[in-house]
Amino acid sequence: MKDLILAIETSCDETAAAVLKGREVLSNIISSQKFHNTYGGIVPELASRAHIKTIDIIVNRAIREAATSPEQIGLVAATAGPGLIGSLLVGFNFAKAFAISEGINFIAIDHIESHIFSPFIGSENIDFPFISLVVSGGHTILFLVMHYDNYKILGNTLDDAAGEAFDKVAKMLGLGYPGGPEIDRLSEKGNENFHEFPQADIKNNPYGFSFSGIKTSVLYYLRKNYPDGKNLPLNDICASFRKSVIMSLVNKTLNAADNLGIKTIAVSGGVSANSLLRKELYRLESRGYKVFLPETRYSTDNAAMIGYNAYLKSKFCDVDYNYQISSYPYANFSYAT
Ligand code: KG4
Ligand code: ZN
Repeated sequence: MKDLILAIETSCDETAAAVLKGREVLSNIISSQKFHNTYGGIVPELASRAHIKTIDIIVNRAIREAATSPEQIGLVAATAGPGLIGSLLVGFNFAKAFAISEGINFIAIDHIESHIFSPFIGSENIDFPFISLVVSGGHTILFLVMHYDNYKILGNTLDDAAGEAFDKVAKMLGLGYPGGPEIDRLSEKGNENFHEFPQADIKNNPYGFSFSGIKTSVLYYLRKNYPDGKNLPLNDICASFRKSVIMSLVNKTLNAADNLGIKTIAVSGGVSANSLLRKELYRLESRGYKVFLPETRYSTDNAAMIGYNAYLKSKFCDVDYNYQISSYPYANFSYAT
């Protein structure tokens, strides 16, 4: 029976494939392009070339680890955007070619929408409405999610994404890329009250985020106090920086939930792997909020979330199986008024 979903994600620097049986993830394979480390950030041209080299290996592994064969797959899903166009095209076209050769349907999937639903991977029923914070290396967006295909964007970042701020500050501190996990690890050994880095409040924009100010304030703080870079209290600086970014994310999310009278909060994207963020959010449960976070393997980019979103779309939404990449944006996002 052709009842499996093959999902492919190549929007950035991860080549990822997953196989799902309905809402259940059978395999989830990720190849991360570690070599970008040398450049301190992602080089798009090299990312596309690496996807070309690995895409068939990763898809084959996902099918093998799911203990299945291409003939059992009935639907192919791939990320169509947002992302690096050269990278997206590799996974998108591979998926389409697979669908054509197997004579099955293809569905184009939105990366951000997939992050929104990633805390629910494996669930049949989703607890609508909920406040969703998608917080990654490229995005920091607060949504009100009423139902499938019914979202409002409440707030966005005006400059850097939160993950980007982690990565840039890590670079200033001489840490590797991506910097978020390393700052998180060092912060656990540091004093978060060592120095107060500012949290941005944006006039007339209660759900807007800004992280370029804190990034600059870390830079000036380092220049002023440790001009030669010696005896840097690395753990304490990391912990103080982490506290400022994370509390700004938590406070604005909570504010939105309270103002809109919503008790369910879901947070996803790479930064949702952050241990302080997880701790602060789970603490809200004692105050009557329901908190949903992805398993950490589904926080950063992966194909299981693309497959789960495809499952939800095929089950609960009207699906056009012929979206072209040029028709992006197709997720039903709109600004709150
Ligand atoms: O969702 P993702 O894999 O890719 C994008 O769509 O951007 O997110 C990657 C981002 C990077 O900026 C990385 O530094 C950040 O997520 N990140 C973290 C942690 N783990 C990953 N940031 C803070 N703490 C973490 N534990
Ligand atoms: Zn992502």
